[in-house]
Amino acid sequence: MSRIYRWAGLAVLAALVVIQFFGIDKTNPPVNASEEFMALAAPPADVAQLLRNACYDCHSHETKYPWYTNVAPVSWWIANHIEHGREHLNFSVWGAYDAEKQAHKAEEAGEEVEKGKMPMTSYQPMHPEARLTDAQRERLTAWFMALSQQKEGANHTPQPEVASPQEEGHDHEDGESHDHEH
Ligand code: HEC
Repeated sequence: MSRIYRWAGLAVLAALVVIQFFGIDKTNPPVNASEEFMALAAPPADVAQLLRNACYDCHSHETKYPWYTNVAPVSWWIANHIEHGREHLNFSVWGAYDAEKQAHKAEEAGEEVEKGKMPMTSYQPMHPEARLTDAQRERLTAWFMALSQQKEGANHTPQPEVASPQEEGHDHEDGESHDHEH
């Protein structure tokens, strides 16, 4: 009987060793300064700091990869969060979103922070700087909601002269709610 346990233990160890050969890709895609959120939305310094501390590892191309991202299978799990985080919201390509999408993403960000869904709970034990106090949560939520309103307004003001190509075709959607887009 004890032989079986010994073999099972060795098999698990061997598997752990083998999976270490399958590292994750840690190359951050380049950041185009003219599309970066901080430059475009110009948050006040305290908000900028909160975003860098609590969001940028998963929602930008400026991800920092601590030592444990070298250890499979934890690294796979983290890489998955980064991939999906960037898919949903990527501050590094903010400028590539049209005004409507910016308004919607800012609103979602406000909601996720308000409800305590973001930053992800699993991220916080290793990132004490990302544990938001109630005051920080309120500050971020209010700031994102204001940004959303501002973008919403920009999107619905007729600006035939300056309308960028991406924004064409949205004029007749005035007054519509975008809450249902996900
Ligand atoms: C550890 C990685 C991680 C961190 C840190 C993180 N997020 Fe996310 N975020 C995700 C992932 C993964 C998703 C994809 C949806 C999901 O799986 O919940 C997501 C989704 C979102 C969405 C889209 C929600 C939707 O309905 O599509 C918003 C908005 C968001 N995050 C905002 C934030 C903000 C703001 C912060 C910082 C206060 C933050 N996130 C911090 C990983 C992260």
